[in-house]
Amino acid sequence: MTYFVDDKGFYGEFGGAYIPEILHKCVHDLQDAYLPIMESDDFKREYHSLLQDYVGRPSPLYYAKRMSEKYGCRLYLKREDLNHTGAHKINNAIGQALLARRMGKTHIIAETGAGQHGVATATACALLGMDCKVFMGKTDIERQHTNVERMRMLGAEVCPVTTGNMTLSDACSEAIRYWCCHPSDTFYVVGSTMGPHPYPDLVARMQSIISEELKWQLREKTGRDYPDCLIACIGGGSNAAGTIYHYADNEHVRIILAEAGGSGIDSGRTAATLHCGSVGILHGSRMLVMQDEDGQIEEAYSISAGLDYPGVGPMHCNMVTKGRSKVFAINDDEAIRAGYELTRLEGIIPAIESAHAVAALSKVKFNADDVVVLTVSGRGDKDIETYLKYGDDI
Ligand SMILES: Cc1ncc(COP(=O)(O)O)c(C=O)c1O
Repeated sequence: MTYFVDDKGFYGEFGGAYIPEILHKCVHDLQDAYLPIMESDDFKREYHSLLQDYVGRPSPLYYAKRMSEKYGCRLYLKREDLNHTGAHKINNAIGQALLARRMGKTHIIAETGAGQHGVATATACALLGMDCKVFMGKTDIERQHTNVERMRMLGAEVCPVTTGNMTLSDACSEAIRYWCCHPSDTFYVVGSTMGPHPYPDLVARMQSIISEELKWQLREKTGRDYPDCLIACIGGGSNAAGTIYHYADNEHVRIILAEAGGSGIDSGRTAATLHCGSVGILHGSRMLVMQDEDGQIEEAYSISAGLDYPGVGPMHCNMVTKGRSKVFAINDDEAIRAGYELTRLEGIIPAIESAHAVAALSKVKFNADDVVVLTVSGRGDKDIETYLKYGDDI
């Protein structure tokens, strides 16, 4: 069985490109262009040299001794938090900005929740001399204000979004609205494995560098190029897609995803789409979405701005419904506790998004010799105020 996209842009029953007429040309142009460009030697050379010299790749694979002792396994952390700009998002933003330039587009737009994708896109645009607009919900602007200042300093225009509950989903809708009004010169740098085909595949490929590195790093450290278990947090699904990409078809590897439970999956305040969602269409893609019985999208809630989305990318919807990946919903308090735990045991302050993945460790049974890789998708500097507000005795 394969879990990759088919030639019509679907992952099983999920995916596709459900777009308004006005976007047909630019989405079809992208569908035609992305693979030939990404597979050209010239693109690969430029992209990989920036990943190495600018982003700082390969990101380390770190053996977490004290956490391993606590959880009874051999735990390795894939340190995407050490990338330039502090998260995995830069792998994708630089790749898409290079792609946009090769397609002759000069104006970049992006959506952002936690601000990490916005900062990464603003950074790529500063580097390549491109114009950049980032759509961000007003609620997120308030809770992630240092990232807003970083984007502005990088020369991007941050466009506040005041519709809905003013978070990530609303920022996506607003970016798509802007794109519909400026389809010919604008390239939409989508920040996760979501959106119309080819974005889920495009973003997964850009992030697949994570598991490409894992193969040789694990061989060096453990003598085998695959782990027993992979763990990643999931919002739209990009760091998870990158983490599992080269292992999706390897049934020896367990895949564990941590989505945001918010106040609890039965509380009505949650972003646990894989637990609570049903099939629907959101932002151009068929996926699991949180919706009411009339098909109206429900507002997602999570303490973490980057996981606060009422949908999940189609690749993961397919893998979860087929039983390939297992999902845990991690509540806000569990994530905060796990963030403090990683900080105190390993000296690594994770992004609150990544702390959800850390919290999943306590929900899984391991054998002592299991090799477990957990992706630390970002660093926690942007979340210090939230960590301090809740404290370590939560
Ligand atoms: C540090 C970090 N991790 C994870 C995510 C979730 O996104 P994704 O599921 O696409 O990796 C975000 C989103 O902003 C993020 O900033």
